[in-house]
Amino acid sequence: MCGIVGYVGEGEAQDIILEGLARLEYRGYDSAGISLLQDGALATCKRVGKLAVLRTVLETTPLRGRLGIGHTRWATHGAPAEENAHPHWDVAQDIAVVHNGIIENFQELRQELEATGIVFRSATDSEVLPHLIQQYYQGDLIEAVRLALQRVRGAYAIGVLHRGEPEVLVGARQGSPLILGLGQGEYFIGSDASAVVKHTRQVIYLNDGELCKLTPAGYHIIDMTGAPARHTPSTIDWDPVQAEKEGYPHYMLKEIFQQPEVLRHALLAYVDSKNNIEMPDLGLDSQRLAGLRRIVIVACGTAWHAGLVGKYMVEQFARIPVEVDLASEFRYGNRVLDADTLVIPVTQSGETADTLEAVRIARTNGAPVIGIVNVVGSSIARSADGVIYTHAGPEIGVASTKAYTSQLCALALFSLYMGRIRNTVTPEDVATQLTQLREIPGKLEQCLEQADAIAACARKDHYMHAKNAMFIGRGVNYPSAMEGALKLKEISYIHVEGYAAGEMKHGPIALVTPELPVVCLAPQGSVYEKVRSNLEEIRARGGVILSIATEGDDNIKTISNDVLYIPACAEMFSPLLVAAPLQLIAYYIACGLGRDVDQPRNLAKSVTVE
Ligand code: M6R
Repeated sequence: MCGIVGYVGEGEAQDIILEGLARLEYRGYDSAGISLLQDGALATCKRVGKLAVLRTVLETTPLRGRLGIGHTRWATHGAPAEENAHPHWDVAQDIAVVHNGIIENFQELRQELEATGIVFRSATDSEVLPHLIQQYYQGDLIEAVRLALQRVRGAYAIGVLHRGEPEVLVGARQGSPLILGLGQGEYFIGSDASAVVKHTRQVIYLNDGELCKLTPAGYHIIDMTGAPARHTPSTIDWDPVQAEKEGYPHYMLKEIFQQPEVLRHALLAYVDSKNNIEMPDLGLDSQRLAGLRRIVIVACGTAWHAGLVGKYMVEQFARIPVEVDLASEFRYGNRVLDADTLVIPVTQSGETADTLEAVRIARTNGAPVIGIVNVVGSSIARSADGVIYTHAGPEIGVASTKAYTSQLCALALFSLYMGRIRNTVTPEDVATQLTQLREIPGKLEQCLEQADAIAACARKDHYMHAKNAMFIGRGVNYPSAMEGALKLKEISYIHVEGYAAGEMKHGPIALVTPELPVVCLAPQGSVYEKVRSNLEEIRARGGVILSIATEGDDNIKTISNDVLYIPACAEMFSPLLVAAPLQLIAYYIACGLGRDVDQPRNLAKSVTVE
């Protein structure tokens, strides 16, 4: 969602901010803007649409200055329009503010400010901030921001400038991410590390309720009482090149092809040569883990699908009951939680607002929390008792691909680890499972080698130009069907549903016609025959069937229009393999339809508001 970049130093703020905003484009946005302190006045430029539109304007009329803030906006309050784009400023145009989050009491604050004669220019909640800060300003910007924020309810990450303090950049965070980048004589703020990584790898992750004041001479962090806050800078351990397309036409395709390498990396991180699974950052000792009575996995979107697969894995290997909840339902569901219930948030970004709130609720209710998280240092990683990092590296495409398979891998390893602790699997069982899991990256490569054949299949008229489609699967591949459906719908805009194959006769089979493609997950395994029966029923009603089956299953061709094959593998790990053809089908259909694959309409990569 919204992206924030701020800069103070000796460099050209416009160039640095535009470059940082470009790195945040992946978060999703519909307008962009920038404010600089130029010749003692605030100079602002905002445009609706892609950053390229803003960049074109700034090429002809550049803003010059050493202090500035920039923003990419994902509309919440008020349509995507120039007046609603950030930065926003106060009446005297002394103060400029960029904001990510939602100010819940903005109506009340707006009425109060309007009663003093202030005329608002936008429909946004964010515009209350510059007016409010101005009310408290008495020559010290960070103090005015601190006092103003005490009036604000909701979530925010902000960057603030004042015309009268030409070397001061102020940031603050509550519920939305903000990091500080520490350079030599120059300092940055950003919504995440990718905004600053070109300039510095030294960052500080601001905590909720903290404010920072940056000048070319250094930085100072305080809490909401005004007391200094101590931080040790962290070093970003990934290279900026990892966030480039590296020759691929889209980030999504690059990230699909990175999966074998990502899985190998994750396996090496957690499994030693003697088949011991080491998870050093769980934050709970073995005795506590062994005594757990229940696990609740909370997540959104693709991560929720990974959690659903995780339920099969944990229940199979560790024999402990698992519930999987959508974080947005969990947070208002008054769930039963206690010290013997482990809550596992699964999240790529570590910043998803609903998942973060689920973590807070779990901890408030005394439940231990272990996050399965990709982004190191993210809010969820830092607020859980322990963490299992998925080691997927930066994922830029809005459609989650390598993050998903790395979450599956982490869940598989965690379930085996728990199985050993609880004595529900023997060391020999673990060794057997790990042998099969280690084969997955190589088998995934075999799946990806078929990309051209998958592209040819996806581009067939009856798939690419379908108005509706259905994905079905059973058992551990029921969540795979939902994930395949989500992948296709979010980047192609085709209406797709993911269903448990066994549910077809309970309603959805009424939809089957020769115009309805049904993608069926039919790898060999305990439910294979059942899935075949479902296919026969669809076939008998004229449905168009694309099956994903195990190599050597020639027979399935007789009841399918098309078949894509995956190598034989352990049933429990088959979701890791079927993910590849599902992702590629979605990718090639979306490309064929001319969609914006990496930044699909209306979507944001990091959903930092509720
Ligand atoms: O960062 P998270 O894993 O918490 O994000 C959760 C979902 O927003 C995310 O998986 C979303 O569903 C993706 N666009 C799916 O491809």
